[in-house]
Order: sequence, then structure tokens, then C-alpha cells
Amino acid sequence: MTNDKIPLAGVIGQPITQSKSPVVHAHWLRRYGIRGHYIPMDVSSVDLPHVLNNLPRMGFRGVNITIPHKESVLDIADVISDRAALIGAANTLTFQSDGKLHADNTDGLGFIANLKQEAPGWNPQAGPALVLGAGGASRAVVAALLHERVPEIILTNRTRARADALKAHFGGKIKVVDWTQAASHLDETATLVNTTALGMTGKEELKLNLGRLTSDTLVTDIVYNPLTTPLLAQAEARGCQTVDGLGMLLHQAVPGFERWFGRAPEVDAELRNAVLR
Ligand code: ATR
Repeated sequence: MTNDKIPLAGVIGQPITQSKSPVVHAHWLRRYGIRGHYIPMDVSSVDLPHVLNNLPRMGFRGVNITIPHKESVLDIADVISDRAALIGAANTLTFQSDGKLHADNTDGLGFIANLKQEAPGWNPQAGPALVLGAGGASRAVVAALLHERVPEIILTNRTRARADALKAHFGGKIKVVDWTQAASHLDETATLVNTTALGMTGKEELKLNLGRLTSDTLVTDIVYNPLTTPLLAQAEARGCQTVDGLGMLLHQAVPGFERWFGRAPEVDAELRNAVLR
């Protein structure tokens, strides 16, 4: 890779039109006056190895990876970060100067950075976290919470077997409870996280009886469309501090931008407004 080329990065998925990443990176490039481009690319699974092989010589420093390639890209990567290996998926690829393809997962980091920025008093070690859902997003959230030394994760999923599998993967600090029993654990919950798509515009609402939710629980949702999900609205009405999911999306983009374009970007209100426009 020659360094006099205009730095390029992008996001690869299929479909790709829904991705907000181009808006995030374009905002930062403009804001910091960096001469670079960030390009959305619609790429099939069959074409992915070939595309990744060819991007570096065109000036690409790296790419974000989204659905449906986040897991399968680990088979193509040469170097896999510990957290990507633990989660079993990558979202940030960097073409190293030695020619190797480095795969990282910044979703969990984005989740934690969002909570720390929006709820500065939040202490992950204050008590158990109740995590709703056991899909791909949940794996990143659970890994991040364990990294932050949460004392216990109470994990619940509509399909219990998926939660059991996640516990088998991550180990002892996870207690799996039935989806129908989740509400009974709210009074012992310090951090409540919805990692399912329930509550998103066009999807069913999350039906969780919040009767036992106490006002010292921090409630967050990875859904950001709408920003205030029914869960967050109900939690707010009960006096809880709440954090919406948009910041996770913004913060997970930070490490890639810094690696590819050489500047640590800020996540602030201006960026949030640019993405919401
Ligand atoms: P993601 O990568 O966004 O986490 P996913 O791996 O498909 O996507 O996981 C979706 C999560 O939302 C799962 O926990 C799923 O529960 P199941 O494992 O039982 O499918 C949950 N989910 C989706 N629709 C749901 C619904 N109607 N009720 C309860 N949970 C639902």
C-alpha cells in the first residue's frame, strides 16, 4: 500500500443501503478536514474474499463489515483480536502494512463507551445486569459486560437454548432464566439491557412487566429507531436513568476511523443530529 493515495474505507454488507456508517464517517471526514472517502459496498458472500483481497491496492485502509458477513469474515482474516474471537464475529477490518487482514469487533466497546458517556455515574459492578436476548448483539454486550466485571449476568431469551449456548460459551457468571420469568428479576437488576429488536419501528413491542423495576436501575436499549423505545419511555416514567442505542452505533465506529484516517473522532450532539437527519 502506498501512502500517497487518498485514504479510503467503507462498509461491506448485503444489503447495504440501510447502513448509517457512511453518514458517520462522512461527518467526521468533513469535520476534521481529512481528504478521504468512506464508501458503502454491496458484496455477496461468494465475492467477499476476492473483494477484500483487492481493496488494499486501491487505497483502502480498512472496512466495516455488517450483516450477513460478520461471522464468516473470521474465516478470511489473518489476525483476529481477542474480543472478535470471543464474540465470534467482526465488524472492523484493517488492512495491515504487512499485508495481513486484521479483524476486530468494536460493538461491545461501543456499548460500554455509550453508557460511560451518557451515564457517567454508571457502575457496571454495582449489581447484576439483566440482558434480554441471546443473538449476535447479545454476544457482544455480554462479552463487554463481563470485561467490565459485572458481578452477574441474568440472561433471558425467548428461545432458551440460545441463552444456554451463550452461557456455555461465556461461563460461570451467567445465570439463564426463562423469558417468562425475566420480570421477576428486575428488583435485583442494576443494569437492564434490551438486545432484541423488539420495540424497533415496525416490530412488536417488548412486553415486560416493569412492576419490579426500581429507580436505581440503569436501562438501555440497543434499538435506536425510535430513539425512545417503549421500554425506555416506561423506565423513564418509573424514574430510571435511560440511555438510547444510537450512541452504541456511533462509538463502535470510533476505532475504525482512528485506525484508517489517523484521528480519534468525537461522538457528540452534532454527530447524533447528522445521523438522525
Ligand atoms: P442480532 O444480531 O440483532 O442480535 P439475532 O441474532 O437474529 O439478531 O437475534 C435476535 C434476538 O431478538 C434474539 O434474542 C431473538 O430471540 P430468539 O433467539 O428466540 O429468536 C430476539 N427476538 C426476535 N424477535 C423476537 C420476539 N418476537 N420475541 C422475543 N424475542 C425476539
